[in-house]
Amino acid sequence: MTDTDQILSRIADAADLDAVEALRVEFLGKQGSVTQLLKTLGKMTPDERKTEGPKIHAARQAVQDAIAAKKDALEQAQLEARLATEKQDLSLPIDEIPQGSIHPVSQVMDELAEIFADLGFAVAEGPEIEDDWHNFGALNIPEAHPARAMQDTFYVDGDGEGAPMVLRTHTSPVQIRTMMKDKPPLRIIAPGRVYRSDSDATHTPMFHQVEGLVIDKNIHLGHLKWTLETFLKAFFERDDVVLRMRPSYFPFTEPSAEVDVGWSEVKGRRVVGGQEGWMEVLGSGMVHPKVIANCGLDPDEWQGFAFGCGIDRLAMLKYGMDDLRAFFDGDLRWLRHYGFRALDVPTLSAGVGA
Ligand code: PHE
Repeated sequence: MTDTDQILSRIADAADLDAVEALRVEFLGKQGSVTQLLKTLGKMTPDERKTEGPKIHAARQAVQDAIAAKKDALEQAQLEARLATEKQDLSLPIDEIPQGSIHPVSQVMDELAEIFADLGFAVAEGPEIEDDWHNFGALNIPEAHPARAMQDTFYVDGDGEGAPMVLRTHTSPVQIRTMMKDKPPLRIIAPGRVYRSDSDATHTPMFHQVEGLVIDKNIHLGHLKWTLETFLKAFFERDDVVLRMRPSYFPFTEPSAEVDVGWSEVKGRRVVGGQEGWMEVLGSGMVHPKVIANCGLDPDEWQGFAFGCGIDRLAMLKYGMDDLRAFFDGDLRWLRHYGFRALDVPTLSAGVGA
């Protein structure tokens, strides 16, 4: 047996991958015997090299090939052994993948953004911890004004220098922030959380409102009425939504109107549409000239309307929940029942004017 044959038979006998690696180092490593053999070429005479060179190279190639082939064979055997013992039981039930859902409040906010986007409104935001001026003062609600008592305010510590801050009692401060920041004409809605110290089946200390604000030239009450009508018809996805505007009072609008929608009874439930009875859904009015002036705009040049609407209440009316508190209990059964699937497109069957 030649040396090469001996090496090849040792490779063929290797029991596992570790043994093959050890042999590779032994023969082909830096100090390996085949590698050393190659180095002897340098010391040979040209004639010797001519006869010995090809033999040594061929031997090295044979060893390299044998090691690669043995490695492949052992790996293949290993895989086959694994496949023979491992079994896929296709009859096993799959693990349930927990799936979240979109909260009705988020769903309704998306629907509102979509409806008002069709009407050219952008979405604006403001902080939930507000200063007194944005929440009250600029909105023409001076200190000691009875309207402050109307909204049971949560106060929080200020920055240590000035007056205490409040948890905003409505989204109306976003009107102020928008008029101060952007140049009219303006068309925005501002959905978000608001806070009042109040709790029963229809009141929670935190709830959601959407504010609407339009500032432009020659805006009048007709624009407000058309906008609200278009919005509520699109939101409730019914053409028979009837609105009733009742004169009311807000310090930041003049004139002011509360808006009711007509309902009718279907299978013992009150649903929006028709006019068997009325329920209040929002407050609105023409932006008070003092509010416009407080934001640095000339009320003789710019007019507008504003409205504020409870989002949770809209959700309850559209999707039929009857206890507001359940919105914020985090009960999974409630969320599974009333939640929306994440990948569904918004449920609105038709856009504005469709
Ligand atoms: N901010 C009022 C409220 O919370 C609603 C409102 C907004 C009324 C805008 C008129 C104009 O009750």
